Parts: sequence; structure tokens; C-alpha cells
Amino acid sequence: MKKYFLLLYCCLTVYILHAEDGYRLWLRYDKVDNSKLLQQYRNAISYIQFAHASPTLAAAKEEMIDGLQGLLDKKILVQNSTENGTVLVVTAADSIIYSLISRDDLDKIAIDGFVIETKKINQKNIIVIAGNTDIGALYGCFHFLRLLQTQQNIQQLSVVSAPTVQLRMLDHWDNLTRTVERGYTGMSIWNWQKLPDYIDKRYTDYARANASIGINAVALNNVNANATILTKDYLIKVAALANVFRPYGIKIFLSARFSAPIEIGGLKTADPLDAQVQQWWKKKADEIYQYIPDFGGFLVKANSEGQPGPQNYNRTHADGANMLADALALHNGIVIWRAFVYSNETNEDRFKQAYNEFKPLDGKFRNNVLVQVKNGPIDFQPREPFHPLFGGMPQTQVMMEFQLTQEYLGFATHLVYLAPLFKECLDADTYTKGKGSYISKVVDGSLENHPVSGMAAVANIGNDINWTGHPFAQANWYAFGRLAWNHNLTSAQIADEWIRKTFTNTQPFVNKVKEMMLVSRETIVDYMTPLGLHHIMGYSHHYGPAPWYNSAARADWNPTYFHKADSAGIGFDRTATGSNALSQYAPEMRKQFDDINTCNENYLLWFHHVPWNFKMKSGRSLWNELCYKYYAGVDSVRWMQSTWDNMKGIIDDERFKEVKMLLTIQEKEAVWWRNACILYFQTFSKMPVPKGLEQPDNSLEYYESLQFPYAPGIGGNQ
Ligand code: GCU
Repeated sequence: MKKYFLLLYCCLTVYILHAEDGYRLWLRYDKVDNSKLLQQYRNAISYIQFAHASPTLAAAKEEMIDGLQGLLDKKILVQNSTENGTVLVVTAADSIIYSLISRDDLDKIAIDGFVIETKKINQKNIIVIAGNTDIGALYGCFHFLRLLQTQQNIQQLSVVSAPTVQLRMLDHWDNLTRTVERGYTGMSIWNWQKLPDYIDKRYTDYARANASIGINAVALNNVNANATILTKDYLIKVAALANVFRPYGIKIFLSARFSAPIEIGGLKTADPLDAQVQQWWKKKADEIYQYIPDFGGFLVKANSEGQPGPQNYNRTHADGANMLADALALHNGIVIWRAFVYSNETNEDRFKQAYNEFKPLDGKFRNNVLVQVKNGPIDFQPREPFHPLFGGMPQTQVMMEFQLTQEYLGFATHLVYLAPLFKECLDADTYTKGKGSYISKVVDGSLENHPVSGMAAVANIGNDINWTGHPFAQANWYAFGRLAWNHNLTSAQIADEWIRKTFTNTQPFVNKVKEMMLVSRETIVDYMTPLGLHHIMGYSHHYGPAPWYNSAARADWNPTYFHKADSAGIGFDRTATGSNALSQYAPEMRKQFDDINTCNENYLLWFHHVPWNFKMKSGRSLWNELCYKYYAGVDSVRWMQSTWDNMKGIIDDERFKEVKMLLTIQEKEAVWWRNACILYFQTFSKMPVPKGLEQPDNSLEYYESLQFPYAPGIGGNQ
């Protein structure tokens, strides 16, 4: 009997240790399954040595012990002497670093980069992981583990790596009620009720995951902010999180509600030029820094979608941002001021409004202000041209805002790998300082030599066991961090790494799944918004297609405003004959889109109202091309399904089945998008679906009748 229980216990332990529920993300340290490499690693690594101690290096030590013991399946000893097979972790605080690493490399890695080198000390073979700072060394340790996880040869290591962008940030749109605006993966991971006394293990694992990809800042709460987060009770809770994050090099930011002086300060105004208001924010900043000495600063959404802001008092965005910047300056805090603004009162194309608002303010922001601009001018669509404020505000530190949560990209049920979307934007040339004025250079500050730079992404994290709902959505969190660290990495490189760390190094799996990931973004564009269509999803919740919708309170919340389909054609004329939004770009950029005959077809309907029978580059009419794109999108999802089916048995059943079920939903929804859009646009084109393509099996009325009152992602502003 005893024996039986022992066996059961062992089986359970093995099961629990290897439960592939996705919780471990890419930080999986299972034994290396390539015996030759395993031998190489075992020969090279037996000890770890840390030249000094600190909370950050303690975190690094724990990660290294866990990681190395798991990957190598052998005991790793912590030593104070340097033996053969030692991994030595050093920083600029340890004088030995100068005999090991060249000054040149130490200069290159600046504050938080790292060097990893194979060395010989006193005839002993060692591996040195070096950073100027503790956090640099921690990043180096994570990178070293990545080399083993992805099964690289480590015999002659010589890695020098430093981040291209300083502030690498996740923005959570989490409410104090724990609902998450545009969140599709459970509730917020911040358990405000239990904080500050109960420290969920998730907080540490979240910090580990972020540090492993170089993320060093997080905004905890929704940009549609509740001022309560700035009260003492909540600051104490925030401080508890800051204590967990600090060793991992992560600074906390808070979304600040502009009217907080009224709501929690008892003042009658929030006018940024009012002395009492200025005083209130100064005192509030002092209070925050008492609790959180390394507080990052404020993230602010003002005068946008109903949020209060300086314009309520006839002041500018610069007045508002600078007032907060002054309050934080003494503490080296930063204001991240969002440029996502558009107004109901003006009749202007929504595309143009943020530029019109911010361009005149260029050069008027304090040094500790970053203006955060979404990648595109409308709102995180499957494909957008880049926002004209990139390159448009040379005297301002402009920061990137991407979206990981899939508000417009199939929620957490569609497999879509977003690195190609991010890269498309970062690699775009603004031409604002001549050829080669890439967005990546605007964002990393190098184009105009700005001292502060940043890249943020709206998080896709919730309290679902696997953090992001879809197992593949983890790849977007991962890819964002990796690109913020180094925007020169390719989408394929990042996917390759992520697959190996998250699933397996088995080559056929890596190759096929990478292929799937790399086509997934174009696939979703095809079945949702091909050829430059945009913002044609369900009203408010943004779930599914609703190109017919035309009842929103604001014109520019209606799909019909964006696609402008009529009997003559489809698309938004943004050339000089239309809204002339193109004039906001540099002439070279404009030229690429101005002419309907030469415009890149991926963006055609962003900039032109195109006749239904317009001849496309393929030789097809616009209508036929639109149909082919929608059908190709669905076909690609079916290809993804069969590709995935072939992966059965290579990875664990748990995640295999999960992805399989999600792909079934994705296929259904892709067909729904295709049919609904084709049937609706057909009422204008009056043309048939080309022969040979399967005909929609439901009517337009059916699709129009679908209602989703409980679609996720629109929690209250609490
Ligand atoms: C989108 C999104 C909102 C969000 C807003 C923002 O409009 O639908 O939920 O608040 O972006 O970025 O502020």
C-alpha cells in the first residue's frame, strides 16, 4: 500500500512539475534534449560565482541556479573561488571586471547592457557575465540562459549587447475593480484588495518574465484613470509592488487622472496654471516618492474620449504636461503624455487631429516629458500607415505606443504574431531628415539626439493561468520586449527564439510553427481589413465585423465613416482632393501614396476612394481583389489548422489541444468576417463573388442581427 502511494506521489510530482499550462511562459528550464550539447554544457558549467551581493544579484543567482540545474540536470554549486567551469558574474563595482572585459566593451554596454565572454583565468576555463550595473548583469544572466534554452554552441562566447531604447515599458489598462479595459484574459493580476500584505507569487514571476526580455517600466493602471490610485491607501499597495519589482530593474509608473486635485484634493479646479493646483501636484509627487523612491512618473491621457485635461481650462497639452513634469523633476520623474487625442467638436478627419493638435507644440515640452504616440493615426488597426507625428515633432521626445492586447485583432482567440506589425512601423522611413529617417531612429532618440527614449506596449496580461489567454499571445509580449531592446532583430529571429524556449527545439516544429507565426499577421489583415480597410469592427466592444454600423454618437466611431463605400467605390480619400491627411507626411512618403495607380495596395483604401472596377496590379478588378483577399485570409487560417494538426505528438498534449481549439474558433470567425464584409460591400459593388469561391452560407441580415452585449474587454472606468 505504502509503495502504491509512493508511486502515485511520484507520478503526481512529475505531472505537477511538467504541467504545461503555459504559466512558465518562455522561462522553461527543462533538461536539454540534445545529448551532445548537454555534454558540452555540462563540461563548461559546474559553478556560479557572484563577485558581490545585492538584491538584484540575488535574483540573478536564484534564476541561474534554477535555470542551470533544470537545463543541465545537475547540481550547480555557488562558489567564491574560480574553478574550471565557473560562470562568473561581475559588475563595475568589482575591480576584477577591468582585467576581464575591455573598456571599449564596457563603454558600449552603457548602463544596462552586458558582455558574455569565454575566458581563461589562471589556466581555468570560465564564462564571464559582466554588466556595468547589477541590472546589466541580471540581463546578461537571462541572456546566457536563453543561449542554453535555444541550444546554442557556448564554446567561444563573445556577446556584447545593449538596449537601443531606454524606457521599455508595459502599459496595463487595469482598473481598480480588477476589470481590464480591452483585456481578454481574465482579471487584472493586481489584487488590490489583498495588497500590500499579500504578495502573490505572480508578481515575482511577472517581474522575472519582464526582466528576461529587458522590460524596465510598467504603468499599473488604466489610462482612463481613477484618481483613487493616487491616495495614500493605494500608494502603500503600489509601494509593495515596487518592492517586488525593484530587484528586477522595473520602475512603476501610474496613470494620473488630470482632475485628481479636484477629486481627491478638494480643490475647485485642475487648471495647470493655477498655483494651488501646481502646489498640489508637487506635494503629491513628494508623497509618492516617500513611498516609492524610484517611482518612474505619470502616464496621462488628457482631453481624449471624455478624459479631463488642460483644455478644460483653455490651456494646451504642453501646459498640462509641463506642470506635471515640474512636480516630478526634483525626483527625476518623467511624464509620458499621450497624443491619442481627437475631438468631437471638429469636423476634421480623425486621422489628422492628433498631428494638428501636437505639431504646433513641438519644442514646448520640458526635458522630462515624452509624448507617446500610437503606431498609427487611428487606433491599433491590423494595418495602419505610421503616425505622422513620428518625424513630425523633431524637437520633442516622441515615444512609441504599440498594443499587445488584441483589441482589433481577434481578442485572445486568434493566433496572430505581432512582430511583423511592429517591424513594419519601426522600419518605415519618415524621410523627415532625408532618406533613412526611420521610425526606429525617431523612437530611440538617435535621429535628433534626444536624451530620453521609450517604447511602450499596452499589455495583454491577465490572471488566466497562461497569462495571455492564447498560448501564442505570449509571443507578442516576448517580441515587444526583444524589439524594445534591439529593434534590429528580425521577426523570424524572435519567433525562432520564442518557439524554442516556449515549446521545443525540434527542428521541424520550429520551422513550421515559425512559418505559421510569420504569415499570421498578413492572414488576419486579409480576413478582416484587406487593402487598407480599417475600423470596420463591432461598435464599442470591437468584436467581429460590423461595416454597416452607423449609429454611434460620434461620426468617427462608425465604420461607415472609415470605409465610405458607395456605388462608385470604397475607401477614404486622404489625398488633396479629400481630407489631405497625406500632407502631414514628408513629400517622399506622400509620393508613395498620392497616386492611386502607384499607391502600395496594402494601404490603398486608407488613402483613396477607389472605383469597384479599378484595375489592380494583379489584373483583377478592385472588387474581385477584395474578394480574393478575404478568401485567401480564410484559406490561410485553414492552412494554419492543418499545419498545427501535423504537430501533434511533438509537443505536450495540453497546449497542442488548446491551440487546436483556438484555431477552430479563429477559422469560424475568419469565415464570419469574410462573409459579413463581402455581403455588405456587395450591396454597393453589385458584383458577384468570383466563380470558384465558396458562396457565403448566411445572409447579410443574419450577420447584421448578431449582438454581443457581454463581449469582454469593456470594464467600467473604475
Ligand atoms: C481605444 C480603446 C479605448 C482606449 C483608447 C486609448 O480607443 O478602444 O478603450 O481607452 O484606445 O488608447 O486611450
